[in-house]
Amino acid sequence: MYPERVFSGMRPTGSLHLGHYHGVLKNWTVLQSKYPCFFCVVDWHALTTHYETPGVIEKNVWEVFIDWLAAGIDPNQATLFIQSKVPEHSELALLIGMSTPLSWLERVPTYKEQMEKLKERDLSTYGFLGYPVLMAADILLYRAIHVPVGEDQVPHLEMTRQIARRFNRLYSSDSIVEEKSYQVAKKLGKKHARLYFALRHSYQEQGDGEALAQAHSILLESNSLSIRDREFLFSYLEVARKRILVEPKALLTSASRMPGLDGQKMSKSYGNTIGLREAKSSIVQKIRTMQTDPARVQLKDPGDPEKCKVWQLHQVYCNESTREWVKVGCKTAGIGCLDCKQPVIDGILREQQPMLERAQKYMDDPSLLRDIVDDGCEKARKSAKEVMQDVRDAMGLKYS
Ligand code: TRP
Repeated sequence: MYPERVFSGMRPTGSLHLGHYHGVLKNWTVLQSKYPCFFCVVDWHALTTHYETPGVIEKNVWEVFIDWLAAGIDPNQATLFIQSKVPEHSELALLIGMSTPLSWLERVPTYKEQMEKLKERDLSTYGFLGYPVLMAADILLYRAIHVPVGEDQVPHLEMTRQIARRFNRLYSSDSIVEEKSYQVAKKLGKKHARLYFALRHSYQEQGDGEALAQAHSILLESNSLSIRDREFLFSYLEVARKRILVEPKALLTSASRMPGLDGQKMSKSYGNTIGLREAKSSIVQKIRTMQTDPARVQLKDPGDPEKCKVWQLHQVYCNESTREWVKVGCKTAGIGCLDCKQPVIDGILREQQPMLERAQKYMDDPSLLRDIVDDGCEKARKSAKEVMQDVRDAMGLKYS
């Protein structure tokens, strides 16, 4: 059995915001104490869309690492590294790409969506089409079982599982037993033999129980098999092979939707974010100018928290008694909107304080950060090399 590893990746899109913290990083800090975790900044994935403007990537990579550390990712527990520093990612992507059908790639919902959305970039490239193959390689290279991701990444995870299954079916079987299966199945007659292997394939690749049942009935109905042959073919349907690659599962972060300044989900593309390490004055300013219930034109006008965007932030940052104070104060016009916003401001700043302190250490001494990432890359690479050796051997690239 392989150890239960966690892998996740993040594209270096610049410094992170509170949406990343509440939606992703907080969860990573919990996982790091339970499992061996590999957290990777995927710079090659950034190039699939930003190949014309590669200049910003390196700076963004360091920003992301500082934000991870600020958020409490502990380099003594988790392995933090850069994708391109472990070239095995590209080798595995190349090799699994050999057997990945084009139709799987064209079918990924985000593929056409992103092409539409990022119209200003030409994404009709081989690299962008291959995005999910590279992502599958990231995960499979560490035999990770748990992959914490958002809902939008689920199709990518599903494809990763399919790629792993196909790889294992193609390259993990024991060739002597396999040869025997052809010899024995021949006795079913050509047509039924072919059907038998097709059904076995559906069962093993898709877990199709009906296919398994149908294969069973072919075997039971055949009168050209000896008892031993039949038993062999029965068990061969389920033969537990040594799996070279492991099928991962998406670990969906419990729908913690961090509201942005405009009430929509916090996201860089909406321009409604608060940075993890944003200056205090700027945070105060942003919250103070947030829109509240439009019915509250003047202090004496009562309002309704349900119609106020700040109310959503109270859910994240304030306790029950403060929320009660807000509810009553707002509905009776007993407090002003700035009064109401103060506990949110305090909450954000309180949450931010330890992050600023942790980040400062690495800003003061960048070599500390380099050392952490160097160590992480080395550790990741060591582990990646072991899996690659198995993959090469399985694919007949042994040369020894
Ligand atoms: N596609 C992911 C995203 O956009 C980033 C990513 C790349 C990733 N490789 C990964 C996430 C491997 C999890 C595991 O968010």
